[in-house]
Parts: sequence; structure tokens; C-alpha cells
Amino acid sequence: YEMQRSLVGSEMCIRDRKRRLGDMDILLWHEILEPYELAVKELQVKFRHLIKEHHGKGLYSPIESVSGRVKSVSSILEKMQRKGIAPEEMEEQVEDIAGIRIICQFVEDIEKVADLIQKRSDIEIKSEKDYIRHMKDSGYRSYHLIVYYTVETMNGPKRIQVEIQIRTMAMDFWATIEHSLQYKYKANIPDHIRERLSAAAKAIIVLDNEMSSVRSEIMDAQNSSQMQRNLITDILNNIENLYKVTNKREVEKIQDEFYHIYAQNDLQELKRFHKELDLIAEGYRAQAITDEL
Ligand code: GTP
Ligand code: MG
Repeated sequence: YEMQRSLVGSEMCIRDRKRRLGDMDILLWHEILEPYELAVKELQVKFRHLIKEHHGKGLYSPIESVSGRVKSVSSILEKMQRKGIAPEEMEEQVEDIAGIRIICQFVEDIEKVADLIQKRSDIEIKSEKDYIRHMKDSGYRSYHLIVYYTVETMNGPKRIQVEIQIRTMAMDFWATIEHSLQYKYKANIPDHIRERLSAAAKAIIVLDNEMSSVRSEIMDAQNSSQMQRNLITDILNNIENLYKVTNKREVEKIQDEFYHIYAQNDLQELKRFHKELDLIAEGYRAQAITDEL
């Protein structure tokens, strides 16, 4: 029933977006694509926010970066022609009108990201394709999800499909290069280039595996540098706030101590100082409240 309703829904939408001109039906591309533009923008904001949330907690983010695009009208037409898709079936059959690409540092992160998406209440997974376990003949590797996502429009909610591609930086490197060659040679990439691409795809697998073997070390390093950045921001905020409420000479002393500890480049010392400063700040807050009373 749900499926039928969404089919009927999209047919209605197309009909609404066609203007009859004599015998010709005109698809109003801008109107059709608008909700897809919105979905791409919203999802980018949401995934980027996930990165920020991880960093804010001093945690390693399984998402490295996010990009998105709406398929160009010419690519949509090309796909409809290639797959024999009728105009009224376009929104149902062309699943990648809206596309989001999520780049991870490590292969292991891809599963984490897929889990994060699965748990979301604003995204419903329609189908998955695992081109990592099952590499395409071309050498292409990525994890694909087709999902349903609802945007709010002037005419109410509209549920649309979005393709989410999840891949490592190395897989992305390969796919980007291969895509530009496909573009140059259309379907006919010369054999000797195909072979080089195939060899490069194998090298990418080795590279991703090598990186995975030092993943925990890299994650630790990134965690502590993020933690250090957060601590420093916090400390400087606290010093600034103290400056507003207390004896300037006192704060200068605290600041000097901070510079001294900062120069030692010791995370444990920085943590200790952060805690100490928190206690001092808390003392002032308590004092301020007592004063108010
Ligand atoms: P398209 O018509 O190309 O969208 O393919 P499809 O709808 O049959 O789905 P498929 O899962 O094969 O591909 C979806 C998307 O993955 C493509 O639009 C590309 O962005 C990407 N992709 C798939 N295969 C390749 C490949 O061999 N090389 C590159 N660079 N990208 C690929
Ligand atoms: Mg595509």
C-alpha cells in the first residue's frame, strides 16, 4: 500500500508539473528538481553536523567529509533513455536524482556510517548495494544506499529518493579518476588504460588495508589532537570570563601559567590545568550568586 501510494503520489506530482501545450506535455524541470535540491542541502547540513558533534566531544568522526549534488537534466535524460524510463516514472525509477557522498578515512568507518544512517528517524533505507564486498568489474568500490527522505514544500511534505554513496578517501580517489576517463572515452576506455585502472584498483585495496592496520594509532592521534583543541578553547574561554569578573593581575598570572603549560606540550598537564581553572571559575560563580543573594 505504501509503495502504491508513493507511486500514485509521484505520478500526481509529474502531472501537476506538466503543462499542456497543444499536444506536447512539458516537464517543468526546475519545479521537479527543487525538492531534490532541498533534500541535498538538508542532508549535507545534517551529516556535517554529525562530524561537528563527534569533534565537539573530542571523538574521532567516522565521517571525514560530505558532498552532494542534484543530477543534471542532461544526465537524467541520458539515464531515462539508457534504461527506457518513461517521463511519468522518472521520479520513481531514477533513484539518484539527489545524491550524497560521504567520505571516510578507513574502510571500517563505512559500516559505522551505515549504522548511523540506519538509526535515523528521518531516513528510511530502501535498498543497499555493497560494491566493497562485491567490487564491480571496472574496479569500482563503494557502499550505496537508496533511501527515502521527506522534505517540506509549499504544498506539504514530499517523500523523495536519495542515493547515498559511502566510500574511503582512497576509493574516492580511484572513482574520481576513473569517472573522468569514462567521460573522456565514453564507453570505450582503451584496454591498456583499463588494465592500469584495474591495477590501480588493486593497489587501492592494499592501501586501504595498510591504513586499517594503523587505524587505532591514527584514531588515537586524532582523538588527542581534537581533545587538545577543545581543552585550549575551553581554557581560553574560562580565562576570558575570569578577566571580566576578577582581579586583572590574578588573571594575568593564570594566563602566564597557561602559556607555561602550553609550551610543555603535555596533554595530561593541560587536562589538570583545565580542571583547576574550572574549579576557580566555579568558585567565582558561587561567589557571584552569594553576592546576588
Ligand atoms: P547509473 O546509471 O550509472 O547511476 O548506475 P545504476 O543506476 O545502474 O547504479 P549503480 O549502482 O551501478 O551506480 C550508481 C552510481 O555509482 C553511479 O551513478 C556512479 O556514481 C557510481 N558508479 C557505479 N559504477 C561506477 C564505476 O564503474 N566507476 C565510477 N567512477 N563510478 C561508478
Ligand atoms: Mg548514478
